[in-house]
Amino acid sequence: MSLDLNLDKILIIDFGSQFTQLIVRRIRELGVYSELTSHKKIKSSQIKQNIKGIVLSGGPLNVYQLNQNLFDKKILKLGIPILGICFGHQILSKFNGGKVKQSKHREFGLANINKKNNSLLIKNFFIKKRIKVWMSHADQVYKLPKSFKVIASSENSKFAIVESKNEKIFGVQFHPEVTHTENGRKLISNFIFDICKIKKNWSSKSQKIQLIKEVKQQVGSNKVICALSGGVDSSVVAQLLNKAIGKKLYCIFVNTGLLRKNEEKQVITTFKKRLKINLIYVNAEKEFIKRLRNISDPEKKRKIIGNLFIKIFERYAKKIKNVKFLAQGTLYPDLIESKSVTGSQTSKIKSHHNVGGLPKKMNLNLIEPLKFLFKDEVRKLGLELKLSKEIISRHPFPGPGLAIRMPGLITKEKIKILKEADHYFIQALRKHNLYNKIWQAYAALLPVKTVGVMGDNRTYEYLCLLRAITSQDGMTADFYEFKKSFIQEISNKIVNSIRGINRVVYDITSKPPSTIELE
Ligand code: XMP
Repeated sequence: MSLDLNLDKILIIDFGSQFTQLIVRRIRELGVYSELTSHKKIKSSQIKQNIKGIVLSGGPLNVYQLNQNLFDKKILKLGIPILGICFGHQILSKFNGGKVKQSKHREFGLANINKKNNSLLIKNFFIKKRIKVWMSHADQVYKLPKSFKVIASSENSKFAIVESKNEKIFGVQFHPEVTHTENGRKLISNFIFDICKIKKNWSSKSQKIQLIKEVKQQVGSNKVICALSGGVDSSVVAQLLNKAIGKKLYCIFVNTGLLRKNEEKQVITTFKKRLKINLIYVNAEKEFIKRLRNISDPEKKRKIIGNLFIKIFERYAKKIKNVKFLAQGTLYPDLIESKSVTGSQTSKIKSHHNVGGLPKKMNLNLIEPLKFLFKDEVRKLGLELKLSKEIISRHPFPGPGLAIRMPGLITKEKIKILKEADHYFIQALRKHNLYNKIWQAYAALLPVKTVGVMGDNRTYEYLCLLRAITSQDGMTADFYEFKKSFIQEISNKIVNSIRGINRVVYDITSKPPSTIELE
């Protein structure tokens, strides 16, 4: 499915900068569809009429290292407006007859730039005489191509902003896409609206309309199955498909017995009763517990759960006749190839099980309606689709569930204790308005018992660990600093209310070196 078919867009050509995704996001935040492609993949023949502007990203190479056979330079001569950022700016100068060399003074961090000439690109950008911009470069342009003019300079970069007005080519040595650059958004907005003359076409509402239309076309009179976990992505996919194809959608929700307290009830109430989605509820608690008996190795747990989940899903999917499609909640960052951009290392450290990663051998065609969206766009789309704020703002929950928050053996007794502890913790976060300030929080049950004293009696019970972290994307994380009064309140509540726990500890490690989950 290609969402971009009928949409005008700004194309971002990626040269490997760590900020490339930010450029895409900034443009989308301004209400314009933008897409990312690798400089090695895009050819000038693929630049269609609906590409109204091109941005060349920064990158770690220098222009002489760039494999010119891989990058099609004809793209620079199509007459489409181009903005080059950092390395992209150097490429524009180099390939138009200018000179790029190693800088005498490298610039990393903030620099001040001054206006030298007028340009459409800087309309209302210089709100002050000097603007602070974020630089990150070791090379720089030393000689401008003949048709280029200086628009702004910094102390160390004479050519901080340049333009070739007639060719509609612009270059900036700094990064307007990062928030440290003052008024960077205005510069990007000038480029897309005043220079590329693209119209706003990107909002949750337009995405909803476009996606529903495309899903309808793709599915026709066929049936679709979807694994629903109750997490944000699969919930948004389910509701989108529900709006598009109604009863031709079959969602399968597997209760592994390792979910959070009351989770299965919430999912059934929301999706079956309220949203009237065809929901097949599979209670597989017993099967999971049986298969996990005597297993304490974290990787074995993950593999058993992942495999069993797929087996059960397939078992139930087979019961529905004439299914042709499998819907998945793949997101845009999963799709972008460049690992240096997404930087995912986690899958090498743990075998992730995700309802999104369903069986490839099922012989079904994939529907991935969210594959051009970022997580925050998915959340907004969810609200547009009338999913509740509660579902949309839920903390991430791993596919293997409570099994990986319970190091050691998994028993029914431990699951029961852990569900309660986690419930009290999350309730307390909500009560104190902390839930939405925290990226993810949970309780875990450690496989050690310690001695305590309650009402003059000796106790010998489990240790409960609480974890609450702040993060951007789960790749790195820091622990959340609670007030003593809060941590005291929740510790008392857990120990006093739950038989089986007599001690609470708070995890103060960041990621790295720890991971977010315990296993
Ligand atoms: P770690 O523990 O690797 O977790 O730092 C990073 C993020 O990923 C979530 N997580 C998972 N999500 N299936 C998932 O869908 C999994 O197997 C899985 N393991 C970890 C974790 O909750 C955190 O948000």
